[in-house]
Amino acid sequence: MEKPKLVISSGAGISAESGISTFRDAGGLWENFPVMEVCSADGFARNPRLVHEFYNARRKDLISKQPNEAHKILAELEKDYDVYVITQNVDDLHERAGSSKIVHLHGELMKMRSVTNPEYVEPLDILHLETTPETRGKNGDFMRPHIVFFQEAVPNMAIAQDLVHEADIFVVIGTSLNVYPAAGLLHDVRPGIPIYYIDPNPANITITSPQVHIIKAKATEGMRILRDILKKTDNG
Ligand code: OAD
Repeated sequence: MEKPKLVISSGAGISAESGISTFRDAGGLWENFPVMEVCSADGFARNPRLVHEFYNARRKDLISKQPNEAHKILAELEKDYDVYVITQNVDDLHERAGSSKIVHLHGELMKMRSVTNPEYVEPLDILHLETTPETRGKNGDFMRPHIVFFQEAVPNMAIAQDLVHEADIFVVIGTSLNVYPAAGLLHDVRPGIPIYYIDPNPANITITSPQVHIIKAKATEGMRILRDILKKTDNG
């Protein structure tokens, strides 16, 4: 029998208990760094060095962090479900926890890409995690962080929408649902499909149907609760 398809859309909150800052909570990254200077196409054109420095600091932070129980439970659910992770996160904690099918909507911190050819992406060497405007790829191109800046299109959005449309169970975790198009994925869920939204401070969501279940909890506790609910509802 085919496993049910569980699609999860994760945001910064799933990595919060690993010690990685979220963006919009009190003390979050966007309170301390001007978002349009460090994470926009215009900001990068104005001051690329500042943008490289911002992401060098994010990488340095990330390598000292570990996946938490929420990432791990999600990876374990692959035993009983066909799990697809759609993440707005640029960290690699889903990968390190063992999830096998991951779509990054906003890029990946541990990769860089060509300034002139968006298709050309290279993983960063763990020993050389700092990039500058002078960094060149193996093909000779100048490189930039592999991040989808504000004012740029989200290339993986169509893939994500198709996955959500095929979901038998849809889970949203740790996102303030502020950033589009990612926040709009909720509207691609088919009618009647159960939606679970795990967040200690959930945003108001516009879908008000009985299929939406809010789990008001941090990611680790929320994933434990979800695991129990799934066991009881016998979807697996
Ligand atoms: P936000 O910082 O906007 O929202 C974080 C969410 O996580 C909030 O809803 C919090 O309540 C929740 N949260 C906090 N601690 C949590 C915990 N321990 N467990 C579960 N949830 C927790 O982050 P995102 O919604 O991911 O884009 O932000 C979306 C995008 O905005 C990011 O991908 C980033 C940013 O600009 C780029 O960098 C391109």
